[in-house]
Amino acid sequence: MMKMASNKQTSYVFVPGKNWKLSLAEVAAFLETRKCQFKIADLSKSFFTLTVEEALEPSLIGDLGGIIKIGWVMSRLSSETVVNAFLYAKKQAQEETEEEVSADYVADEAFKASSKKCVFGVSLYFEGRQFLRHAKEMQRFMGNYFKGELASRGVKARFMGFPRNRKLPQLTHVEVLKKGLIEKSAEILFCVGREQTYVAKTIAVHNPFEFQKRDVERPVQRKIFSIPPRLAKIMANLSSCAPGKVLLDPFCGVGTILQEAMLTKAQVIGIDINPWCVKASYTNLAWLKDEYKIEDRRYTVLLGDSRRLTDKVDVDSVDCIATEPDLGPALRHLPTESYARGIAGKLKPLYGSFLEGAYRVLKGGGKLVITSPYIRTRSGTFVTLSIEEEAERIGFSSSCPIERRFFVNETSLTEDLANMSSFVDIEERHKIGREIHVLQK
Ligand SMILES: C[S@@+](CC[C@H](N)C(=O)[O-])C[C@H]1O[C@@H](n2cnc3c(N)ncnc32)[C@H](O)[C@@H]1O
Repeated sequence: MMKMASNKQTSYVFVPGKNWKLSLAEVAAFLETRKCQFKIADLSKSFFTLTVEEALEPSLIGDLGGIIKIGWVMSRLSSETVVNAFLYAKKQAQEETEEEVSADYVADEAFKASSKKCVFGVSLYFEGRQFLRHAKEMQRFMGNYFKGELASRGVKARFMGFPRNRKLPQLTHVEVLKKGLIEKSAEILFCVGREQTYVAKTIAVHNPFEFQKRDVERPVQRKIFSIPPRLAKIMANLSSCAPGKVLLDPFCGVGTILQEAMLTKAQVIGIDINPWCVKASYTNLAWLKDEYKIEDRRYTVLLGDSRRLTDKVDVDSVDCIATEPDLGPALRHLPTESYARGIAGKLKPLYGSFLEGAYRVLKGGGKLVITSPYIRTRSGTFVTLSIEEEAERIGFSSSCPIERRFFVNETSLTEDLANMSSFVDIEERHKIGREIHVLQK
């Protein structure tokens, strides 16, 4: 169960990273694994709102790889009012907006930590381009409102501006961190959803330096082949990794996924065919244990061939597997479709043999989160490994982390999300991206 935080309000705004569906899937899997009751109220690319039965600890953000900010909802109003106030400049709607936002406790709650002089932030999140032209005006409205409230409490305050070229009036998580806004004053999030608009106070932001440390400050690094720690964390969470569980990474490389799972207080087992990687993972896990003062965490790293997993791991012994076997060779140029098919064809036997063994070593109900290559071709199409068919033949079923029952309202979007058991992660500049599959025994 989640630890109780001191406040009793239980709606939160989550600002996701670039891959918002993957971020939502991670949060859903994380809360579900910990039996934390929640409902997804509002949903968009730029933020989603969750109502939970027990208050969340700000430290939660460090347990998630895909969330940039978490805000505690202090007040809400209808988005129709916000549209009328800012898009159509209707006087009555403007007054209503002020009235809703100006509940006294909003200012009291938002600025609990402020001294007599403070700098605070206001960031705006919305869905729909129609707000783009009015975003700065809306941000100033909120900023001026809180400035006035603080002045009436004897606090001299100013709100942070943005560089001219910033498209959206949003502070980055790094700005919030560097200015110490959460500790010293506040960042207010004004989030305009389809039906409701939320006024929230940021309680936590993603700390990129902490994740970076686990990448570049660990003793052994391998730049090209290792997975980013944030994605490793997301994969561990999607696999339902939790304290006390046994997580296996059978293609562990330098141990990135094992590291993130170990921080979740899981018992971890790594396997790699390359003796250098076995040693590297071991060294990195020993460093992590020391650096993060993790006590009583057992870790094992074995030399082995994961095409014959049962040689090394007992049948029905593992709670979850999170792994990246092989995304194929680094490509200088976009491949033709037939070349890409060739890459996929060469990798298929490795994935096939591994899936057979993975099914056997997993406990019943255990999850396998596995990446496969998502290859962009010269003709603009993508070539994939389509591992689901093979996985199903072996006995796995596809697992959808974002379940239909989590939503307050069902729409065509929620319908799509509730059917997603794999997530594509690829950026414009990438020739090969990842398809992240969630499978269950
Ligand atoms: C893409 S890398 C994994 C990187 C890892 N996630 C990390 O962050 O370092 C794949 C790893 O699988 C290992 N490998 C390849 N074939 C293998 C096999 N048949 N059995 C076990 N390990 C294998 C490679 O040595 C390599 O370290």
